[in-house]
Amino acid sequence: MPRKPYVGGNWKMNTDRVTGPALAREVAASAQANPGCEVAVFVPFPYLWAVGEAIGSAPVALGAQDCYFEPGGAFTGEVSLGMLQDCRVTDVLTGHSERRHVLGETDELINRKTLAVLEAGMTCVLCIGELLEEREAGQTDVVNERQLRAGLAGVTAVQMARVVIAYEPVWAIGTGKVATPEDAQAAHARCRAVLEDLYDSITADATRIIYGGSLKPANAAELLAQPDIDGGLVGGASLKGADFGPIVEAAGRA
Ligand code: 13P
Repeated sequence: MPRKPYVGGNWKMNTDRVTGPALAREVAASAQANPGCEVAVFVPFPYLWAVGEAIGSAPVALGAQDCYFEPGGAFTGEVSLGMLQDCRVTDVLTGHSERRHVLGETDELINRKTLAVLEAGMTCVLCIGELLEEREAGQTDVVNERQLRAGLAGVTAVQMARVVIAYEPVWAIGTGKVATPEDAQAAHARCRAVLEDLYDSITADATRIIYGGSLKPANAAELLAQPDIDGGLVGGASLKGADFGPIVEAAGRA
């Protein structure tokens, strides 16, 4: 069965109470025009509710950039999955490179969050990817495999239907440097082989593996045309409707 492409806009620590909903309305229009692509926006916590209202009934999944795995209690500053669901969030990022490398999240913490997202019945976009020095040391596949195995520990094959893997080489994030379609395809194919080893070929074939790292309208079509690239996770280019729209369109066509 063909995999439906998934394109997420990761707004990171950008937008505000006015620009967030306005951007969401532009995203809603491009999602409506491209029904062949599943579209999500990952919004800063304070604006989730307003962005959800702006999306209305349009086919755009409301996403959070992070979560905490405990259901409630004395965890100052953290946000539970119940709170996110109360704000109509359906999709959650785990393991984003900025959370791993700027905020110091470990594979173990990322795994606990991933399991909690899935146990809450939500969609989890688990992000993985190697640092520049790891790539230069020929460690790309080793790092991806380690992050996949650790991140997915305890996740069942049934739950995998609600997992999207985002391969985001860290050296390509926000740098303007993009993986070549061949390099990205090779990394995605290796990730799919790891999923087959962890689960089975049906699960591996059904799982969306999306690319992130300086994805923009000019390079999207070529990357998204690769057989194992099933969409994208977009940072900078998701902040303008005029850039994000063409990426959604390219994914819908691929
Ligand atoms: P850029 O598209 O800005 O490189 O960011 C990618 C990313 O980190 C998406 O999660």
